[in-house]
Order: sequence, then C-alpha cells, then structure tokens
Amino acid sequence: MDVAIRRSFLIPSNEIYGSSAGFYDYGAVGTAIKHKIQNLWRSEMLQKEGFHEIETSVIVPEAVLKASGHAENFADPLVTCSGCKQKFRADHLIEENKDAKKEGVKASGLPPAELSALIKKYSVLCPQCKKPTLSEVGWFNMMFRTNIGPIDGNTAYFRPETAQGIFLDFARVIRNYGSKLPIGIGQVGRSARNEISPRQGLIRMREFTQMELEYFFNPVDQTYPRFKKIAHHKARFVEGAVPPHEVSYGEAVSTGLVPNEIMAYFLYKQWELYLAVGIPASKMYFRKMPKNDTPHYSKGNVDLEVETSYGSVETTGTAYRTDYDLSQHAKHSGQDLSVFDEATKQKIVAHVVEPSMGVDRLFWCVLEHCFRDKTPERDWEWFAFPPCIAPYHAWIFPLMKKDGMDGKAREIEEALREAGLTVYYQESGSIGRRYARADEIGVPYCITIDYDTLDTKSDKHGTVTVRFRNDAKQVRIKVSELAEKLAHFVKEGKVTE
Ligand code: GLY
Repeated sequence: MDVAIRRSFLIPSNEIYGSSAGFYDYGAVGTAIKHKIQNLWRSEMLQKEGFHEIETSVIVPEAVLKASGHAENFADPLVTCSGCKQKFRADHLIEENKDAKKEGVKASGLPPAELSALIKKYSVLCPQCKKPTLSEVGWFNMMFRTNIGPIDGNTAYFRPETAQGIFLDFARVIRNYGSKLPIGIGQVGRSARNEISPRQGLIRMREFTQMELEYFFNPVDQTYPRFKKIAHHKARFVEGAVPPHEVSYGEAVSTGLVPNEIMAYFLYKQWELYLAVGIPASKMYFRKMPKNDTPHYSKGNVDLEVETSYGSVETTGTAYRTDYDLSQHAKHSGQDLSVFDEATKQKIVAHVVEPSMGVDRLFWCVLEHCFRDKTPERDWEWFAFPPCIAPYHAWIFPLMKKDGMDGKAREIEEALREAGLTVYYQESGSIGRRYARADEIGVPYCITIDYDTLDTKSDKHGTVTVRFRNDAKQVRIKVSELAEKLAHFVKEGKVTE
C-alpha cells in the first residue's frame, strides 16, 4: 500500500481532511491501469460475445430495493461493546479469535443467535477494551441511505450492486433487439456498501466499481453455443474441504459442480481474463459457495478467489439468479417483464446467470502479483504488468535535452499517440534514473532518441533504442516501423528481448 500511494496508483480519499476508512481515489497511474482492466472486460465479456452495455443511475428509490430483497436482507452481523461503544463485525471477530481459529470455526453467513453463542463459547473480547463487553449480535443494513429532493420520506439508497439497474431496464433493451432471448446486458459502474469496519485497503471498500453482466435466457435451454469449444479447458476448483485441483469445464458441468454450461462458460472467460492481467493460475481457484454464504437471490454461486497477502480473497461471484429479480420487479411494479418465446409459443420470465466482478479487488491482486522486489541486478522495486494493462505502453526519452533530440522525441511521442498507443515524454534525470522510474510503475517499453537517431552519417540513423522492461535488453528499431512494432509487442505481451 505504501508503494501504491507513493507511486500515484492510489490516494486515500479526502486525505487532507483526514481520510475515512474504506475510500480510495485512483491516482493518474492507477486510473490508467483501472480503465485498461475495465476496457479489457468490456472487450472480452461484452463485445466478443455480442452483448450490450448500459449505464444506470447510482441513486435508487427504496421501492426497487424492497423488491430486490436488499432492504431486508442486505445486512452484516453487528456487535457493540458496552464499554467503549465501538461497533464491530461479529463474524470477523469470531474468526480472528485464537481458539475459534484453531478449531477452524467458519462464522461467515451464520444467523445472529448462533454468532452470539460463539462469542460466549470462545469468550471473544472487545478488541479495544480487551474485556468481555460485547453485546448480543444484531443485523446492520449495509446500504447508504439518502433522500430524493427536499421533502423527507422520499427514501433512496446508493445502489449496493449495479445489477438492479439492468433488471429495471431489461424490458426496454430487449425490445430494442427484437425481444429475443438469450440476451446479455452489462454495466461498469460504482456501487456502495456501508461496511461496518473496513480494513484491508482495496479489499473492503465502502464505494467501489463493479463490472457486471446479466445473461438472460430461457431456462429450458441451459446450453451455451461456444461452450463445446472450451469444454476441455481446465481451471482449479475447490470443492468443500478438497483443496484446489484441476477440473475441466466439461467435467464441472457433468458432475454438477457448476449448475450449467452458461455459468461454466463465463467462469472460463473470467479465468482467461485473470491470466491476461497477470494473476498466475497457481494463485487462484474457483470455489462453489456453501448455501449459507450464497446471496438471498441465488440458487448457486461460484466465486473466483485469489491468494494475496490478506489471505484468500473473493474477487468475482458468478450467481445463478434464476427469475428471482425479474419476477420480484414484475410483482412490485405491476409491469409485465415476461418475454414471448417463439420456440415454445409461451410467455416466460427469463432466468439469469450473473458473472459479477469487483474492479478494485482485481486491481489490488494485480498489484500484488506483478510486484517484483529489488535484486542485485536491479536496485529498485518494479511491476511486471502485462503490456495490455500497463499504465503507459511506452515512455519516450531524449538522451539529452539538446541538439534536436528533444524535438525528435516530441515528434515520436505525437506519432505514437496518433497510432493509439499510450505514451509519456520524460526528459529529466539521468537515463538510468528514467529507466528506474518507468520500471517502478511497470511501463514495458522505454524508447530513447540519441545522437545516432539524428546523425545522417551513422548506420543507426533513423532508428531509436527500445528497452524491454523485464530483461532490460535493448534493440534498435526504425522510427518508421516503431508504432506498428510496439502495437505488435503489446498484442503479443512481449516484455523481454
Ligand atoms: N451483483 C452481485 C453483487 O454485487 O454481489
């Protein structure tokens, strides 16, 4: 976190007034990476599948969240200390207790009465006062509440998930596309959850960005056209107490580990996306969630967990939401949200599989897994981001700010930007220091304009050096071929000579 803040990946929100836990801004470097991750998601999960993207309001009237079940069910277990009056998340306190930990107690998802009993059983103390002063456990609804307009009583909430906006707009979107199932509708946007005691940096944020896809289909056909092509591919799965092991997506469906082909196909897409952004296969796995850890709307959830310094972190949740949401909204709004199915000549309420991803958690996992420590050969910490999500594709340096090298570097900078590459011109400091600064934020290529570039008598005239981040080796490339070659390197993920 220290490195992330120093190098402009992240900034604690409202810092100059003293920050509140659970809020982070992205600095210029972090924003560039985050947007590249989001665009990769758009390309892989929406565009390549022929799906649609929409953007819906973040402030949602209470009626919507009553229908969706969030007003009643979207709560975490809360415990208060009668001494210091501080409030804590009950399940976390229990799981952090030494004796409960030894016995492998899983408190997450248990009802308040069982959590209260565990607090007594393990004599869990208030973490501040170190005394047995904790109250009975109750529920705390995690939604941020507000009021629409000046008249009290018009209650609304900052949305707890982007998904609800998609269910509300479903009928209009499907009408625009011939009222035919299946259809995929996605959105990237902010959601908020008033976490009781957020810790762990980006892992538990109070305001965060989601990338959610809702795939609407007729439940009589739970196949996916492209599934056959990928059924033999493998990922790591955890089943109950069985540790991560490789299972093919085909086997996962045939053994009931994953409810249907649709869900398995989206798991495959997530796994590949994670590999592409730099998470090693050995550090991640899918987990089929037990019933008591499955959201109220879901008939089955599979999470993608990544190992981090905070332990194993849930970074995606893929849920089989059935017709729960559309049926609830039809009932509460009085609108017909069914679709006429040509094959069966019947009106049906579409079922939904939802692959949902949190950008911030993934961003954090990328930082951790791409971080490289100092070595005898390289006296600075650096990041091995895949070029497709690096904050800049290249940094451009004139060897010196004179003799036309700076002008030529500016010319190249402009040409590369025109070609769609993200580049940054840097002229201060020694060349070695500039390489180090580029490495420190994970820039994969450094381009240097030197005397030979401009010297018409040199056999290197019209060329620049390109240094590859991972092995620090250099090649000379003709200026006229530079944009095309760099774009090719980015596409291939080339990071060494
Ligand atoms: N839409 C699923 C979630 O936000 O958890």
